[in-house]
Amino acid sequence: MSYFPRLNQVSPLQPLRHPSADAAGVNLWIKRDDQLLLPKDAVFPAFCGNKWRKLRYNLEEAREKQKNHLLTFGGAYSNHIAAVAAAGSLFKFRTTGIIRGEAHEPLNPTLAFAKKSGMRLEYISRSAFRQKDPVALAQSFPDGDTAYILPDGGTNAAAIRGCRELSEEIHDQLGFAPDHLCVSAGTGGTAAGLILGSEPPTQVHVYPALKGDFLRQEIQRWLPESTVPWHLVTDYHFGGYAKWSENLLEHMDRFRRSTGILLDPIYTGKLVFGVLADMERGYFPRGSSVVMVHTGGLQGLAGFRERFS
Ligand SMILES: Cc1ncc(COP(=O)(O)O)c(C=O)c1O
Repeated sequence: MSYFPRLNQVSPLQPLRHPSADAAGVNLWIKRDDQLLLPKDAVFPAFCGNKWRKLRYNLEEAREKQKNHLLTFGGAYSNHIAAVAAAGSLFKFRTTGIIRGEAHEPLNPTLAFAKKSGMRLEYISRSAFRQKDPVALAQSFPDGDTAYILPDGGTNAAAIRGCRELSEEIHDQLGFAPDHLCVSAGTGGTAAGLILGSEPPTQVHVYPALKGDFLRQEIQRWLPESTVPWHLVTDYHFGGYAKWSENLLEHMDRFRRSTGILLDPIYTGKLVFGVLADMERGYFPRGSSVVMVHTGGLQGLAGFRERFS
């Protein structure tokens, strides 16, 4: 991969001893995509996890099409905004982030990082955000800049191609196809890639970080008729996007103390809570192999602490 020589492109697959797995008689692993980049890299927290998987083929396509300016969209705490800003500074693209809602000074840690990485920030109202026309927005670019447009959350065909490789990598590292692959979902692109990259006997379990059943169609639209079985597990959104409870935070803290692995409260904290709870209630058969994917999101911790003390 000549464009991106500095990146550690294979993340560890870590076997995990955990009392819930022991009690359920399940073999548990966690795929450490939070460690996808070398820790000494300054942009590590912003660019780890599923962000690199989702962006890498987009960045290649942008280069191939000779686009020099990445345009994207997101909320004020978006992991995707931080990742695109980091990608821009690492790989020398100009970047613009269209942010949902009003500007607030001082900038929160996500937007401060984006700005420091060179991203131009523009704010639009929530209703304008819903009706936005990316092509029209790109017309305000300086002369000579050519836009490569990334949707909010970064899910498109190139992103799904990158996430597909995640399943293949897990399969290669294990030496067999796991029985169960578990992943968090926002737009569902990461999950769609995992499903497409899997083969029998794997089943994919998708744990949405948002409320509602809409992800079923969102994921299905990327899939051909026949894939491995997949399931939407809608019991662990904790009230919706960026909603949380003391119980969730305590669970994340206990997990960190017993495994040394830091989770984020928006995505991976809810995933791990859900998978372990499901394990305890016997959802995964005794003797089966279960892999949870740590999709990163750790850049969001500073903003979460700031918002909720
Ligand atoms: C850390 C983290 N995990 C999981 C997801 C969900 O990814 P997707 O939008 O592809 O479903 C996101 C989305 O932004 C994320 O930031």
